Amino acid sequence: MITKEQVEQFDTQGAVTIDTPLTSDQLAAARRVFDELLPQADPSSGELRNRVGQTGNIFEQELLDILQSPFLEDVAKKVLRAEAVTFFQTAIIKAYPEPGAEFRFSEHTDIQYCSSDFESIPRRMVCSHFLWLNDVNEKRAPMMHRPGSHLLIARHRQNDPELAKAPPAVKGTSKEHLPDLPYSEPVPVTARAGQVSVLTTSMVHAGSTNVDKEPRYAFVITFHPRNFYIGLPESQAQAKIKYDRELQEHLRSDRRHLIDTTWQG
Ligand SMILES: [Fe+2]
Repeated sequence: MITKEQVEQFDTQGAVTIDTPLTSDQLAAARRVFDELLPQADPSSGELRNRVGQTGNIFEQELLDILQSPFLEDVAKKVLRAEAVTFFQTAIIKAYPEPGAEFRFSEHTDIQYCSSDFESIPRRMVCSHFLWLNDVNEKRAPMMHRPGSHLLIARHRQNDPELAKAPPAVKGTSKEHLPDLPYSEPVPVTARAGQVSVLTTSMVHAGSTNVDKEPRYAFVITFHPRNFYIGLPESQAQAKIKYDRELQEHLRSDRRHLIDTTWQG
């Protein structure tokens, strides 16, 4: 389980990487599913892609077993200070090697909060689990992040009467459109296979180029406190509503409480 110190690290840095009880067999099975679902060559055009992902529409048993793991739910409850949590979104991403390429990354936030959202109980926010199915080193497309940047942005919003009124909603904002604040330097999130990085995408972060020789596998599972609603862009909202309904039928009967079918976007 996540320790008090690890939750504090999440609070102050915006990300913490912790061990999980997943076995190497479970990780290998999940990687095989990624390989099948996320081929490098685009099935229609044959074009080779560097980063292949899928949001929702995940029903493979090997991945469902991980998705509905009580461990991830319990960690989300602790971090969100919530008695109950439900799924927000789920994605799988495979970053293929680009040996010889220049290491690049493009920074952004996916959502922004006010300080009061972090301080509330439960927190009015989404927490993202980036589960790494193999080792992530500094060359293997690590997520880049600026520790503590989520708090700088939250204070900035809290102090602006207009922004303080706006409810949090998912909306990508590139770094050049972020307020000019004294952010720390970007650092890579590295991890061992089977660890999970628990993080908020309200910190300044970026996907990066895989300049290593092996692919990088990320299984992203996000939670929010039950009965707290975060908006999504319309196209994603409709896809989420559809996926949630179908997913509920695929979960074990004792895990179906993880789906909130009252979410309206
Ligand atoms: Fe992002």
